[in-house]
Amino acid sequence: RCSAEESKTVVIGLAADSGCGKSTFMRRLTSVFGGAAEPPKGGNPDSNTLISDTTTVICLDDYHSLDRTGRKEKGVTALDPKANNFDLMYEQVKALKDGISVEKPIYNHVSGLLDPPELIKPPKILVIEGLHPMYDSRVRDLLDFSIYLDISNEVKFAWKIQRDMAERGHSLESIKASIEARKPDFDAYIDPQKQYADAVIEVLPTQLIPGDNGGKVLRVKLVMKEGVKFFSPVYLFDEGSTISWIPCGRKLTCSYPGIKFFYGPDTYFGHEVSVLEMDGQFDRLDELIYVESHLSNISTKFYGEVTQQMLKHSDFPGSNNGTGFFQTIVGLKIRDLYEQIITSKAAAPLEAAKA
Ligand code: ADP
Ligand code: G6P
Repeated sequence: RCSAEESKTVVIGLAADSGCGKSTFMRRLTSVFGGAAEPPKGGNPDSNTLISDTTTVICLDDYHSLDRTGRKEKGVTALDPKANNFDLMYEQVKALKDGISVEKPIYNHVSGLLDPPELIKPPKILVIEGLHPMYDSRVRDLLDFSIYLDISNEVKFAWKIQRDMAERGHSLESIKASIEARKPDFDAYIDPQKQYADAVIEVLPTQLIPGDNGGKVLRVKLVMKEGVKFFSPVYLFDEGSTISWIPCGRKLTCSYPGIKFFYGPDTYFGHEVSVLEMDGQFDRLDELIYVESHLSNISTKFYGEVTQQMLKHSDFPGSNNGTGFFQTIVGLKIRDLYEQIITSKAAAPLEAAKA
């Protein structure tokens, strides 16, 4: 009993629409856990899985029940639950959580077909990322922590234009059309999952430049649920108070339009939450230490760890603003949660023996 309990995998859910920064977030997260995750060696080169010493990240697209042709024939999108096998998703995540290996299907993003399955062994930390980690209540109940990346329409549009126009040669009209076509299913099946998330990273246009929708300067909100076991929200200066802070000045270099922080309590879908907000961007990443030193409960192991992580990955998108900053902090919070779960499990048999 004791060893079975100890071997249990901690399961984290990360939900977002595609093209919203999930892979970038995963790279920041696995770096905090102590090592970049890589595709399985010697397996299918089109595998969507990433593995490190501690962490396995699986992509929930692998549970598509309909392949690209099947979706076309039935007239459903990948976002539609009808195109996904939640029974299998539940069975396999549960098995992994119980320490049992599974043969997980692979959805091949190149061919649009389902490839032969790959063996997934139970890791210490399992991240399930994709469109529907919190959609099915059975899967949701298996999650030890859940995150929703909430990119506002304006910003999503700006990012998609940047990528699909510049890098893939799509036209503005076709990008608009593809976003519009996804919207009804996104609103029906993806967006509602945010009410279940323990942490939400919301990405909005800046309020520092009136009327700006360019998606370059961003206002990012970290919404943290109160009362979640093993998770205590980050705070600025004084827990539970409401604070507006402009750190620019002698200790932090800011050019136009500057940086503005906000911290305070709020409610989110009827839950009590704490919100930390950052609008604007950093000019000099090494000065981030000044902001970091004013935050509490960030679960660092040494002074300046957030800044160190941000400097290490300064080439990742979002490194000069709240997206990268808050993703890094959420990574540290998850490491802390994992360590607390492991400690509490190790203590559990002792408690039982005492009783
Ligand atoms: P996903 O895995 O959800 O498809 P990625 O992490 O691959 O998303 O990011 C997709 C694209 O979105 C990136 O190439 C980049 O253009 C843009 N992007 C993602 N995160 C950010 C960010 N924080 N700031 C600016 N652009 C971003
Ligand atoms: C979403 C899903 C992918 C899917 C893509 C396009 O982004 O995450 O799994 O491949 O939609 O779907 P399509 O039906 O156009 O191939």
